[in-house]
Amino acid sequence: MDLEPRFTEDEIREAVARIARAIEADVPRPDTTRPLLLVGVLKGSFVLLADLVRELTIPAEVDFVRARSYGAGTTSAGAVEITKDLETDVTGRDVIVVEDIAETGRTMDAICAHIAASRPASLRRCALLVREGGPAEDDPPDYAGLRVGPGFVVGYGLDHAERYRGLRDIRALPEDGPPA
Ligand code: IMP
Ligand code: MG
Repeated sequence: MDLEPRFTEDEIREAVARIARAIEADVPRPDTTRPLLLVGVLKGSFVLLADLVRELTIPAEVDFVRARSYGAGTTSAGAVEITKDLETDVTGRDVIVVEDIAETGRTMDAICAHIAASRPASLRRCALLVREGGPAEDDPPDYAGLRVGPGFVVGYGLDHAERYRGLRDIRALPEDGPPA
């Protein structure tokens, strides 16, 4: 395939395991009546969430939100709108928002602000990828997998115009755009 490899399946697996161990370390006495709630940000986080919930050795529930930032294509735009809300009552729950990649951090910030309004017991942020040199690197997620340099990346849930989500590894699109 005409895409430059960025992270192998092994590197991704190790990053997910590191995240899971860090989460477990923060939950020394898991509460089985009110387990951790992982909130995946659709659609890009769905592969990560599937791997993370299976890697964790403590109970976790899952739910999803969907956010749209205005503007399309390969740049993150300004305003973020939540287009699919949680179905779980998060009041008093320990919540971790799980995103594929944090770049400006605006998507994560908007979703966290929305969830915070329902008064969870705790609210943490997780992203598999954090863009090097981006604002999200200065204010990193509580759980971050891998730092990624410039260039639009796809695979492992991440898309370009809905393509490539099923790639097992993470690859970069050529600078002149995706192959036909
Ligand atoms: P932020 O709001 O600027 O942090 O952007 C985060 C969102 O932009 C992610 O949830 C992705 O949907 C999208 N995004 C940013 N960079 C990439 C990329 O390289 N590949 C795929 N999606 C990306
Ligand atoms: Mg996306």
